[in-house]
Amino acid sequence: MNLTLKIWRQKNAKDKGKLVEYKVTEISDHMSFLEMMDVLNEQLVNSGGEPIAFDHDCREGICGMCSLYINGEAHGPDREITTCQLHMRMFNDGDTIFIEPFRSRAFPVIKDLVVDRTSFERIQQAGGYISINTSGNTQDANATPISKHDADMSMDAAACIGCGACVASCKNSSAMLFVSAKVSQFALLPQGRVEAVDRVMNMVKQMDDEGFGNCTNTGACEVECPKGISLDNIARMNREYLKASI
Ligand code: SF4
Ligand code: FES
Repeated sequence: MNLTLKIWRQKNAKDKGKLVEYKVTEISDHMSFLEMMDVLNEQLVNSGGEPIAFDHDCREGICGMCSLYINGEAHGPDREITTCQLHMRMFNDGDTIFIEPFRSRAFPVIKDLVVDRTSFERIQQAGGYISINTSGNTQDANATPISKHDADMSMDAAACIGCGACVASCKNSSAMLFVSAKVSQFALLPQGRVEAVDRVMNMVKQMDDEGFGNCTNTGACEVECPKGISLDNIARMNREYLKASI
């Protein structure tokens, strides 16, 4: 298929940036979206141009690095997939595709389609861990019984890969879905209860300090999340926060 691409180009964080039009031809519908971007970059390099910077790593939906906003949707038109799992068969010959970076005050553009998501790392550092030292003292998994229901919900929350699509999709740039997933995965397990109060207070404070907006329950984050993280986690985090505040 032949496509017209309108891609956000921005030299650096200070540059104003603009959409630039490119044409790609003979794109196979079996290609992934990032492979199509590779074809374009090869074209640009071969003609002496500057390749388009975009984030990627595992290319199998695990690492959370890929982050494009495609035709107005984080990770593009398919559901519960990352950009690297998006295939060109979701598009038609002759389509014009708009490709932009994830946009949020807390995710400043570094170059072209690459944004700085270290704000997520600082939120994780504020409490997204368990600090009990288990080295040399690992207990048998069965020593702490956990109900299947709680274990399943914790695992579902732990599926969050920290991509930031929830923030990019939210009109308020809220990071509540991400933070609530990280709080929930521990809050549901006895191992996580020990530091539960400090965790939720510190992570929410860091989230606010980073400049993310508030949640107004629009649900766009849940729709665009590649891992199907549920809004129930936000309700759980709010309960955890209220309990911790009291
Ligand atoms: S909640 Fe979903 S959209 Fe948000 S960071 Fe985690 S995986 Fe990405
Ligand atoms: S490149 Fe790792 S999730 Fe897309």
